[in-house]
Amino acid sequence: MDRDRRQSFYKLIACFSLISILYSLVNNFLVDPGAETFLSHKTGLVRELKPQIWLTVMYIHVGFACVAMASGLINFSTRSYTKYPRFHRVNGYVYISSVLFVVLTSGYLAPYATGGKVSSIGFNLLNILWLFVTVTALVHILRRRVLQHRRWMIRSYAFCFTNMLIHLLTFVFHEMIGIEYVTSYTIGLYGSIVLLIIAPEVLFRVEKPIGIDPHKG
Ligand code: HEM
Repeated sequence: MDRDRRQSFYKLIACFSLISILYSLVNNFLVDPGAETFLSHKTGLVRELKPQIWLTVMYIHVGFACVAMASGLINFSTRSYTKYPRFHRVNGYVYISSVLFVVLTSGYLAPYATGGKVSSIGFNLLNILWLFVTVTALVHILRRRVLQHRRWMIRSYAFCFTNMLIHLLTFVFHEMIGIEYVTSYTIGLYGSIVLLIIAPEVLFRVEKPIGIDPHKG
């Protein structure tokens, strides 16, 4: 990918990230701070859900998710790692710590997931995947493999769009196709996992023919 196309692509991703951060903050802290709409779909849970604890954990989850989205976005900017390498490193650890908090809180939320056991398994799978991909990105840079680090960070960052994509797919299946909400949510979850794994690979295939050597770095 040449410089101009790369910059345009970065701007596009920046737009998605900012929309996702704004949507998460406005929807969860202003529009529906008690998550009443979301919780109304939780029927027939095997474990008893304590709303106050669930809400507190969800707020922490959303807060760190937003920090992960913002810090990750900043670190993909070329200026961050060429001009300010020390900032890039510190901000990178902010990103990894935020991912860790999102995954930890997700571990609490998963057993109560909309859609029951099938959704819980999906979320736990996501937890393992996201941790594995993020740690792999870190290991690559500790071994000075810049290109591999960049690729695994792109794979990791894709998971920041999990929530937005789940809601988008749920909307399509529920509102547009007419499938029951809970089923749509579960389909949305698994659909998101697949799309978030595939999207970075498609990106690498697009940039490969334009002259970037994947074995370098
Ligand atoms: C990074 C961007 C993310 C944001 C902004 C985010 C935000 C949220 C929000 C707002 C909720 C509350 C329910 C809703 O309105 O959807 C939620 C629920 C949840 N999130 Fe995340 N999340 C993100 C990523 C993830 C990831 C990567 C995982 C798994 C590794 C995860 C696991 C969960 C679980 C298990 C729930 C509970 C779902 C349920 O009760 O049905 N989230 N998330």
